[in-house]
Amino acid sequence: MKIGVIGSGDVAKVLASGFLKHGHDVVIGTRDPAKLKDWAERNPGVRVGSFSDAAQFGEVVALAVKGLVAAEALRAARASNLAGKPLIDATKPIAEAPPQNGVLQYFSSLDESLMERLQREFPNAHFVKAFNSVGNSRMVNPQFAAGKPTMFICGNDNSAKKTVERILDQLGWETADMGKAEAARAIEPLCMLWCIPGFLRNEWTHAFKLLKDG
Ligand SMILES: NC(=O)c1ccc[n+]([C@@H]2O[C@H](COP(=O)([O-])OP(=O)(O)OC[C@H]3O[C@@H](n4cnc5c(N)ncnc54)[C@H](OP(=O)(O)O)[C@@H]3O)[C@@H](O)[C@H]2O)c1
Repeated sequence: MKIGVIGSGDVAKVLASGFLKHGHDVVIGTRDPAKLKDWAERNPGVRVGSFSDAAQFGEVVALAVKGLVAAEALRAARASNLAGKPLIDATKPIAEAPPQNGVLQYFSSLDESLMERLQREFPNAHFVKAFNSVGNSRMVNPQFAAGKPTMFICGNDNSAKKTVERILDQLGWETADMGKAEAARAIEPLCMLWCIPGFLRNEWTHAFKLLKDG
């Protein structure tokens, strides 16, 4: 597929490399292409453009920017370039304030997730929350002795979720669909839980798995 990645940080780079590895065509978007020069040289086939170049190119778009500026980045990507497309939302609503005893502070609430805010502002994009509850070093084909970890996803459009599930299959995840956009109120805080062992004990190598009986 053609995938546009909005962002130039570790998550954007890891996802873009993972998509390339699995045969997708990738344009990665940033406000400052110079910062991706070295990385692009190590990832032949990738093209670097603006946020709107990436969004326009993608049949699927992945959003991997700082949560506080996610809406700003999508405005720059342009709503018309996102309309009708699955939008993989990897962002976390982390506030500027530091963690308290290892617990991240969020600017969202349990009654309104970041993804719902974004979905409301960009109603024609098909947001699917994914990748926000694992560290970037284990986003692509993670290897765990206990088997495949679980990626919890949610979003309002079933066909977009199926597309994202196919990509998650390729990237070595089992997918647990938690329903509509409101479920992001539960999925986004998984990252708070995921980060606690990291902040308290410098343990960053875990992932979540949903165990089912039968
Ligand atoms: N780090 C992880 O392991 C991890 C895991 C799961 C989820 N996440 C989430 O994934 C997202 C990306 O994380 P990251 O650590 O890779 O990168 P990051 O440092 O959180 O974000 C970098 C990106 O934010 C963009 N940005 C910053 N200020 C902006 C502004 N005023 N307007 C528009 N764009 C702006 C930058 O754009 P330019 O390219 O133009 O500079 C850059 O692409 C975050 O929401 C993070 O919480 C992170």
